[in-house]
Amino acid sequence: MLKIKTPASTSNLGPGFDCLGLALDLYNSFDVDLSEEDELIGVDEAFNNENNLFLKAYHLGMKQIGLDDHVRVSFHTAVPVSRGLGSSSTLIVGGLLAASALHNDALDKDHIFQLAAMMEGHPDNAAPCVYGGFCASFRDEEGNFFTRILTFSEDFKITLFIPDFEVETANARRILPDVYPRKIAVANASKAILTVKALVDGDLELLKKCAKDELHEPYRRTLISEYDEVKKLFIKDTDGVFLISGSGSTCIGISKDYFEESSALSALKHHWQVKEVSFTNKGAMAYEV
Ligand code: HSE
Repeated sequence: MLKIKTPASTSNLGPGFDCLGLALDLYNSFDVDLSEEDELIGVDEAFNNENNLFLKAYHLGMKQIGLDDHVRVSFHTAVPVSRGLGSSSTLIVGGLLAASALHNDALDKDHIFQLAAMMEGHPDNAAPCVYGGFCASFRDEEGNFFTRILTFSEDFKITLFIPDFEVETANARRILPDVYPRKIAVANASKAILTVKALVDGDLELLKKCAKDELHEPYRRTLISEYDEVKKLFIKDTDGVFLISGSGSTCIGISKDYFEESSALSALKHHWQVKEVSFTNKGAMAYEV
């Protein structure tokens, strides 16, 4: 049997909207075998159909390979759904990698990345999910995706604040403006460049100055109940930086010391799971078991 493991990811990292992403040491795994017909085991009823992203990606991969066969998949998932942690990328990359690995590695990593980013519509979760690490990506005028892996500083501690409510990415994109003034475009581009520098160097002072987004965070924070309260508690305790992970609802704290005031969160209306995570340089993997 083949085992596929795909990492969660946090994306945007403030002003790096739709281009920065970091793989996290938190994996979904899938046990995969060829089968007479498609069979999904261990998925919620709502996802047990042909629209399942793993299955759609598997068949897209098979189409590229020029074959079509079926797959039995057992899901062992740890990445929360609709929480801004790249769970859809874990499924899409998982399905594409399954198609490839079951057919003599017919798709190389770049091919898997291109297809996954195309299915997602943006490359910032797909890149770290495929390659691992801290990825900066973009889409060119022809629609091809590019990515480069940067070195994320070992000095930063990453804390996830995962609330008990979901935010659908489609909704969180719909509320964003289509057009921004030049002043905001310039501010965001400059801040994104120096956010990368700060994350590579482990420079918290620089990060505090420049990880301030104007493209998505001002709009999306309205979708995240108690965002201000949790942010205030995190910054007071760690003097770190508090950002929306992907399109939310999870928020991510980046600091030099871990957050120690979890008990203060119990006074809030929602349950916020506090999870310390490391980044990982290991992207999606497939191996025989
Ligand atoms: N960059 C995307 C967004 C990530 O913020 O909408 C969502 O998966």
